[in-house]
Amino acid sequence: MTDTNNSAGTATLTYGDKSVEMPVLSGSTGPDVIDIRKLYAATDAFTYDPGFTSTAACESAITFIDGDKGTLLHRGYPIGQLAAQSNFVEVCHLLLHGELPTAEQYEKFERSITMHTMLHAQFDRFFEGFRRDAHPMAIMVGTVGALSAFYHDSLDIHDARQREISAIRLIAKMPTIAARAYKYHIGQPFVSPRNDLNYAENFLRMCFAVPAEDYVVNPVMAKAMDRIFTLHADHEQNASTSTVRLAGSSGANPFACIAAGIACLWGPSHGGANEEALTMLKEIGTPDKIPEFIEGVKAKKYKLMGFGHRVYKNYDPRATVMKESADEVLAAVGDPNDPLFQVAKELERIALNDEYFIERKLFPNVDFYSGITLSAMGFPTSMFTVLFSLARTVGWIAQWQEMIGDPTQKIGRPRQLYTGPTERDYVPIQNRG
Ligand code: ACO
Repeated sequence: MTDTNNSAGTATLTYGDKSVEMPVLSGSTGPDVIDIRKLYAATDAFTYDPGFTSTAACESAITFIDGDKGTLLHRGYPIGQLAAQSNFVEVCHLLLHGELPTAEQYEKFERSITMHTMLHAQFDRFFEGFRRDAHPMAIMVGTVGALSAFYHDSLDIHDARQREISAIRLIAKMPTIAARAYKYHIGQPFVSPRNDLNYAENFLRMCFAVPAEDYVVNPVMAKAMDRIFTLHADHEQNASTSTVRLAGSSGANPFACIAAGIACLWGPSHGGANEEALTMLKEIGTPDKIPEFIEGVKAKKYKLMGFGHRVYKNYDPRATVMKESADEVLAAVGDPNDPLFQVAKELERIALNDEYFIERKLFPNVDFYSGITLSAMGFPTSMFTVLFSLARTVGWIAQWQEMIGDPTQKIGRPRQLYTGPTERDYVPIQNRG
């Protein structure tokens, strides 16, 4: 992939009595990068960047974010246009293959996903091993990793066709697994996928249908579900994607890598934030409690969940679309005057005008409104991160595919600034004191 970047001169680093020239590379857009690969050999020093705040860990042509402008592009297309005019399956094709599909390609791609939605019958017994009160994310981490025990014919990462089949299997089976995690949790029978429904409709049916009556998919819900999937499909080199890449860099199979991504996503600073954001709105309860809550945030007693982002220092473009979806869903199936929605809107208004948040460039992120929307759609909070993991699977697998196909790819192996004891001799236990 080195032919896609351009040389943009060199940067000189002087350290002690050494001076090192390092190549500077330009991508198609975004900041240049200083290529420090030879730095250690030349200077005997590492770079230090915990949290990767200034480090590009890979070259990628999938997703671009301009955090200052609040721009998110998938293969060049703005997320707002994709959310308004495209759909999740088309976005999956775009992320995986680099281009929007022709009508014929779309039909073939959608068909291949539809034909892989079922799970091996033996797989269902996995769910039985969990306690009913298990968090559905715990079930996701375990069961998705277990896919590698069922689909041996697509584990060879050096075979492009097998990688492609694994990608399709993951995108197709995640809704079935996620819906089963939910059904198991609430003690209802599993609902099998239906090939005459689209991706979002099928998922909603697998979550909410019961054997006792027919389930008719509400089109507003299906549209909102599809949009939520689209908004979460990929997001550059975030923590879970980097986890997938790091796991994959050792040659681990794709199902294991995606399970690693799910584990990372579970954390409250990442995918778990929408669950926390809704809990926070419930705790605030009414708009009159907001000023007191904001004082607690400023005193750093707690964070305003659903606000702030490592990359966006402007309004998260996904939050704009999510707010619209919240409006639509609440008007159709919820209460447009839902007190939580009122609290959220007022909280946003106050925070955006408060010096603490302005100074730190803290804006709502996608999680701020997604919890309210998902809750109105009937999902319990414990399912929020599960839905995120379902949607992000395509991003993870596209990034993993890109990494495997990159000839410059190496096992990820960061170094450290060691601050522990220097070498010392072992002391027998009777001599310690
Ligand atoms: N509420 C209050 N203050 C905040 C918040 C917040 N949500 N986020 C950041 N800050 C403050 C920090 O306390 C810090 O203040 P200081 O300079 O006085 O010390 C300053 O803003 C910078 O924050 P950092 O923690 O350095 O920012 P970082 O880039 O490391 O964190 C993160 C980004 C983790 C997303 C953070 O903003 C956060 O925890 N937000 C809440 C959780 C959340 O909504 N996560 C979802 C992320 S989006 C996603 O995963 C889909």
